[in-house]
Amino acid sequence: MEARITVLPGDGVGPEVTAEAVACLATIAEQFGHAFEFQEALIGGAAVDATGDPLPEATLNLCRTCDAVMLGAVGGPAWDRHPRDQRPESGLLRLRKALGLYANLRPVSVHPSLEDASPLKPEIVRGTDLMFVRELSGGLYFGEPRSYSDEAAVNTLPYTRGEIERVARVAFDLASVRRKRLVSVDKANVLETSRLWRKVVDDMAPAYPDVAVQHAYVDSFAMALITRPRDFDVVLTENLFGDILSDEAAVLAGSLGLLPSASLGGSVGLFEPIHGSAPDIAGQDKANPIGTILSAAMLLRHALKLDAEALALEAAVNHVIKGGHGTGDLKGATHPHGTHSLGARIQEAIRPPRNKSPRLADSAYSWCGSPEGHRSNH
Ligand code: IPM
Ligand code: MN
Repeated sequence: MEARITVLPGDGVGPEVTAEAVACLATIAEQFGHAFEFQEALIGGAAVDATGDPLPEATLNLCRTCDAVMLGAVGGPAWDRHPRDQRPESGLLRLRKALGLYANLRPVSVHPSLEDASPLKPEIVRGTDLMFVRELSGGLYFGEPRSYSDEAAVNTLPYTRGEIERVARVAFDLASVRRKRLVSVDKANVLETSRLWRKVVDDMAPAYPDVAVQHAYVDSFAMALITRPRDFDVVLTENLFGDILSDEAAVLAGSLGLLPSASLGGSVGLFEPIHGSAPDIAGQDKANPIGTILSAAMLLRHALKLDAEALALEAAVNHVIKGGHGTGDLKGATHPHGTHSLGARIQEAIRPPRNKSPRLADSAYSWCGSPEGHRSNH
């Protein structure tokens, strides 16, 4: 197939990690006979510096008219003092909103050979397989009124029934093809929006009789997540809680640098790692490219509907991790790599070894298997 992919490298480590993800997609295209065309555009601080706008019109137009968007990261100390609409982050938030991306999928699972990479005990993290569904275009991030002065500031947390229903539907659908458990995380003992959130989820539950629904308060869930993560399957939550809890969940996987995301709901999907721009290591070939490469696998699966290709890319990542290869953030990696050489390893692993059958055994983990729940069992 032919596909046009917009690449937004952004700031900090963004350009380094997206370069590896693009190289992986190009290798997949070559192996499976597809024609992927990549077009780069500016976003974030890089766009502010070049044009004064963190989301230039040309970037938005390109994103609206392509088949999928791949993003690195935005932000950095250079732009911290800029007014809100000229901060790198506001470019990303406007892009999510403009593309109508209300559902952010953030799978978190623990690779068997990385059970010791987490500061938590291996017996706690072992077998973790979570799918966060974070609401992405509402809540505190976008609520009006909002204002700032040095004496008083206001943010607002609004949600409508419709906004809750559409993201909850994504979570219910995922739960029904996974382990059929849904936990909805809120603060309904304090917040009206959370009371509505809970009511809407309860109203929808009868339509999904095979999904077991549970509600949790965000404070106690924050603790349960890292003390008994295996008890959960799909986690549905609003924008800010999802932002916080998914970084917390990264501790289970062993490194924030491993985790991918897919933002869906509009006509074009956005795929980006959950980590930030990591200005402290930018340009040093130290960043872990795996979160972005696994986001590229989600792009293949969700935007291009290329399931076998997504599985092949995930199998290549599994194979490389199993071999002990990793960047410095992965505690216990026996073969240390920089960003580029780890990416190159993965690209090499995508190509079947000469004179051997394709490497199927490595896709046998549930780790970073299909978010839809189709585990590959060969
Ligand atoms: C994320 C990031 C963003 C967010 C920032 C960069 C705006 O932290 O994708 O998790 O808060 O959503
Ligand atoms: Mn975040």
